[in-house]
Amino acid sequence: MGAMLVLGIETSCDDTAAAVVEDARTVRSNVIAAQDVHREFGGVVPELASRAHLDLIGPTVERALTDAGVAFRDLDGVAVTRAPGLMGSLLVGVSYAKALAAALGRPVVGVNHIEAHLLAPLLEGAEFVYPMVGAVVSGGHSELFVVERPGRYAIVGTTRDDAIGEAFDKVAKLLGLGFPGGPAIDRLSDQGDATRFSFPRAMLDSGDFDLSFSGLKTAVKRAVAHAAPAGPPYDARLVADVCASFQAAAIDVLVAKLEAAARAHGARALSLGGGVACNRMLREKLKALGARLGVPAFHPSPKLCADNGAMIALVGSHRLARGEQDGADLEPIANLDESGLVDAPARLA
Ligand code: KG4
Ligand code: ZN
Repeated sequence: MGAMLVLGIETSCDDTAAAVVEDARTVRSNVIAAQDVHREFGGVVPELASRAHLDLIGPTVERALTDAGVAFRDLDGVAVTRAPGLMGSLLVGVSYAKALAAALGRPVVGVNHIEAHLLAPLLEGAEFVYPMVGAVVSGGHSELFVVERPGRYAIVGTTRDDAIGEAFDKVAKLLGLGFPGGPAIDRLSDQGDATRFSFPRAMLDSGDFDLSFSGLKTAVKRAVAHAAPAGPPYDARLVADVCASFQAAAIDVLVAKLEAAARAHGARALSLGGGVACNRMLREKLKALGARLGVPAFHPSPKLCADNGAMIALVGSHRLARGEQDGADLEPIANLDESGLVDAPARLA
């Protein structure tokens, strides 16, 4: 038998993505079509997202095959994000994947998007050691997991309000930095004074591994209103100092909770996934935490942190290798809690 080639399709939010992965290891292509329609609204508009997925999915899949030098008939299976995400967006990917798989006479496999973020470093040669404590941090997620082994996950902490990426995006919007705001805040923080504003580090003493970012967002809003009562546009110095002070506060709390969870659960490795895992300060602090704990720390390169089809193809390849597949009844599931990633009893305290 030759190499196993799996197409991965991702449409859970606002990126239409497709990739071809060989033998659950090698990324042969990885195409991400960002939807520009959401920029002018400063956030993802669900109705526009599913319409854009409809327009983009065909060309994106074709491009992924061309880049990989692979024909449709070479594929051994079609993997697709089935949960969690925006229902209308998931539906486009799942319907397309089912139709394509049926036309090709190949299996379709549904994949959990959060599991894919957690396992993405495997595409870059990471050698996981278990138990591993990992965080999935993005515009819609801030969850801390204990990975007992691939396929066995427990959520140990989650945000009580905003996701961390959402906090980056809202602060960026307030400062007039556009959407998504994480990359701009990351960049501008280099020029800012992180000690100018002492923003709250919420939940540090909560005794659990939960997070909260809405108080931080409110504190930023208040500080900006106080420093510049006339409103926008804001002075560049102020913007840089707010970015640096906000980023330091948000990352401090996340890393402190990762450390607490890692110590409590005897983590032998650390890992990060999701768009916010692109953040340079977070990456540095994760490495430092790994060094302090004496365990390896993994994070994907930026192209595999953000939503992408390669991580979906990876998890789909694992499922296919285990002899699993879905049928024509595969349906999207919007909520993480209902997605079957974590059994209710496995939600560790
Ligand atoms: O995983 P992702 O592409 O999509 C989902 O939200 O599922 O993550 C996007 C999020 C956005 O909130 C964006 O602002 C944030 O990741 N992000 C960053 C950085 N790059 C992207 N946040 C902080 N620093 C970055 N460098
Ligand atoms: Zn994501």
